[in-house]
Amino acid sequence: MILETERLTLRPLTEADSAPLHEIMSDPDAMAHWDIAAIEDPDLTDAIVNSQIEAMDTGRARHWAITRTADGAFLGVCDLSDIDRWHHRGEIGYLLGREAWGQGYGLEAMRAVVTQAAALGIRRLTARTHVGNIRSEQLLVKLGFQIEGYLRGHIQRDGERRDCHLFGLLL
Ligand SMILES: CC(C)(COP(=O)(O)OP(=O)(O)OC[C@H]1O[C@@H](n2cnc3c(N)ncnc32)[C@H](O)[C@@H]1OP(=O)(O)O)[C@@H](O)C(=O)NCCC(=O)NCCS
Repeated sequence: MILETERLTLRPLTEADSAPLHEIMSDPDAMAHWDIAAIEDPDLTDAIVNSQIEAMDTGRARHWAITRTADGAFLGVCDLSDIDRWHHRGEIGYLLGREAWGQGYGLEAMRAVVTQAAALGIRRLTARTHVGNIRSEQLLVKLGFQIEGYLRGHIQRDGERRDCHLFGLLL
């Protein structure tokens, strides 16, 4: 399903997106608050993209490449994952390259994803941030999410455990 917004085109992720996505996933700043550290090996990015395509094929998730409609530039990726059809819920995620930050693209893309989730019958969305990921938490609040929990030591990264915030939105 392709999603169009004022400035963006969100289209289903393909294997060809692995190369531009690796540019972002190898950037330590973009990955500062991601569950895994910046990726050096492009084969690992390939494997992640392939597993996401497989999750789409089985209906567990939707993954999109976020592109700027005016020039086709690849800005990043976003997703609706862990889709639970029985309980009508799912989780959202997003990752933009640094040069795309601060222009409202994240909000614009994720508003379209939330609308699409509602159209799919999803009634509850969750998102999880590493504590301190201010940009992401501001984005979630703009989308209407509320903080629902504090997950102590939820992530193992760079030899340490990290705390996370759980956010939720009822649709
Ligand atoms: C989190 C992330 C997606 C936010 O992306 P973003 O596009 O900068 O976020 P927004 O859409 O909310 O944009 C907000 C900024 O754009 C500015 N902006 C400029 N033009 C705008 C417009 N037309 N509409 C809305 N905001 C606009 C806002 O003023 C705001 O600036 P500020 O942060 O200085 O106040 C991005 O920082 C990212 O990919 N980070 C790394 C990955 C990550 O941590 N993902 C989340 C894991 S939980």
